[in-house]
Amino acid sequence: MSKTASKSQAHLFSDWPGHQREPEAGDQYTRDQVSIHFDHAQNLYAGWPTPTCIISDGPYGVSGFPGDNHKAESLAEWYEPHIKAWSEYSTPETTLWFWNTEVGWAMVHPVLVANGWKYRCCNIWDKGLGHVAGNANTQTLRKFPVVTEVCVHYVKAATFQVNNRSLTMQEWLRHEWKRTGMPFRLANEACGVLNAATRKYLTADHLWYYPPVDAFVRLARYANEHGDPAGRPYFSIDGKRPIPGRQWAKLRAKFDCDLGVTNVWREPQVSGSERIQGTRNGMKYKFSSLHGSQKPLKFIELMIRASTEEGDVVWEPFGGLCPGAVVSYHFCRRYYGAEIVPEFYAAAVERLATS
Ligand SMILES: C[S@@+](CC[C@H](N)C(=O)[O-])C[C@H]1O[C@@H](n2cnc3c(N)ncnc32)[C@H](O)[C@@H]1O
Repeated sequence: MSKTASKSQAHLFSDWPGHQREPEAGDQYTRDQVSIHFDHAQNLYAGWPTPTCIISDGPYGVSGFPGDNHKAESLAEWYEPHIKAWSEYSTPETTLWFWNTEVGWAMVHPVLVANGWKYRCCNIWDKGLGHVAGNANTQTLRKFPVVTEVCVHYVKAATFQVNNRSLTMQEWLRHEWKRTGMPFRLANEACGVLNAATRKYLTADHLWYYPPVDAFVRLARYANEHGDPAGRPYFSIDGKRPIPGRQWAKLRAKFDCDLGVTNVWREPQVSGSERIQGTRNGMKYKFSSLHGSQKPLKFIELMIRASTEEGDVVWEPFGGLCPGAVVSYHFCRRYYGAEIVPEFYAAAVERLATS
């Protein structure tokens, strides 16, 4: 357990929700279905329930906050055990939101892909010119001032095992239809559409779409009624019956967002009452504004609401001030977060307890 609080700061921990002392490894604070743990995330994954959404906001390789003492070049190695655990405990319903700098993400992206995470979109936090106001001598910097971070959206894509080969959903749908011996155009008749089934669901090109539940059920029913009897069942995982609609729905990550939201998230650095300050109960922490990398609650709400529903499980392994805990509490998600710096843990607990 890495603890950065010195003995002289121990009094800071004398009066915070649920604890009368400094945090110790294994401590946990729970409010309703929301739990913040004082421990290394890698010690906790195996005991947490399956995540519908993982918010990763860990080291950036810029030494920007305690615990971030890694260079961008070593981020891939640092993240690898975490990414492997996320893959192991996730399902095709899981969404991963990976925060980092642009170069930090570039370093880690290959590890994510190698472990089954499928890239969906790079969301950009544009903090605006105010972020560098008065502090951007471009003649010294020799570059444009940086006012962004990225929050990259991945999903744990479903894979299908066929003859020792791992097929993507797109490949598997074509594979199954081909096995029926019927021409692809009959998929349109199966779905009751002019050409959308072949154009969208059974295409081999990049314009492929996931068949919604009703379309999948119709494809599967038609294939099993009219396809070569020798190859039945078609569109089955267990070899006994086609995948039922409710199970098909769980083979992709949830996503729902309001019209008008794009991948450019314009918002200044957290300030005002939302900014957690370096004082508490009249005492000063060693940091003036407590966490250098505090994320706007607005973004965390956007991510959680887009990728989960009530009762779903949210993981925030590198919690910091645990914005995911606050949002999960208010939107009835089950939340599991971790933090290893005592001040951040204590502040996150107090934030949740009073939110
Ligand atoms: C970028 S900050 C998170 C900031 C947070 N999103 C917020 O808005 O307050 C990353 C945090 O991860 C913590 N951390 C680093 N390694 C960790 C680990 N193995 N387990 C749990 N927390 C860790 C650091 O102490 C740091 O507070």
